[in-house]
Amino acid sequence: MPWNPEKYHQFQSQRSAPFDDLLQMVDIRPGLRVVDLGCGTGELTRRLADSLLESDVLGLDSSPQMLERAGEHARPGLRFELGNLAEVGGKWDLIFSNAALQWSDEHKKLIPLLYSRLAPKGQIAVQVPSNHNSNAHLSIIEAAGREPFASALGGWTRQSPVLPIEAYAELLFREEAQEIIVFEKVYPHVLENADAIVDWISGTALVPYFERLDSLKDDFVNAIRQDLRVLIPGEPVFYPFKRTFISARKAA
Ligand SMILES: C[S@@+](CC[C@H](N)C(=O)[O-])C[C@H]1O[C@@H](n2cnc3c(N)ncnc32)[C@H](O)[C@@H]1O
Repeated sequence: MPWNPEKYHQFQSQRSAPFDDLLQMVDIRPGLRVVDLGCGTGELTRRLADSLLESDVLGLDSSPQMLERAGEHARPGLRFELGNLAEVGGKWDLIFSNAALQWSDEHKKLIPLLYSRLAPKGQIAVQVPSNHNSNAHLSIIEAAGREPFASALGGWTRQSPVLPIEAYAELLFREEAQEIIVFEKVYPHVLENADAIVDWISGTALVPYFERLDSLKDDFVNAIRQDLRVLIPGEPVFYPFKRTFISARKAA
């Protein structure tokens, strides 16, 4: 997918709050082998690496555009590689991922696969947005079902693979994981107006639509803009953003 680092960075301060919460869940020990799945532009991977003493951190991402920016943060103990998070190899003391696993399907297979990549005593610590039933996301699906977009998309819409929180707890329990923690948190964002929400989703949820819509891209954004101005009127607007946090440890 053609990620746009500039667009993605527009809401950096709102996006770093869940990263901070996820970092709080990490059991900090010296000398960890760490992978950050879907590391994006690397600033947060760098913060992760800086808070883990003597760690060896790999940031993995499938977007060359994002990785180009990430490369600026490389240093001894922190490197970046192109790759698919669903095919991560090796054994890790910490598998970390902030706001990326929602781009990979089949979480019922993905979570056990990632868990299998943990070394003994290893920890998985993951955050995924779970706001797929928000007005903004439902508007995307709704607009994608209307013409001319439905024909251009061939009927395709992107359905979130994110599961209910109890499903993640159960998947980890079946793997005999220890110290299972799964919860959902609402981030109470206040944005200037409905257009700001469209700007936000233009850097994330709309990205897979953009590559399929080509010359209809701007019309699609405008259609969603019109819908959201009606659904979420006024200035400023409240944009409650739900996110799921998952952490568990493998036995020694
Ligand atoms: C919303 S950004 C999050 C970036 C960073 N973790 C952060 O918190 O700012 C999602 C990232 O996941 C990456 N991504 C999406 N699907 C992926 C996959 N299958 N394998 C690896 N990276 C992927 C995208 O390229 C993008 O950089």
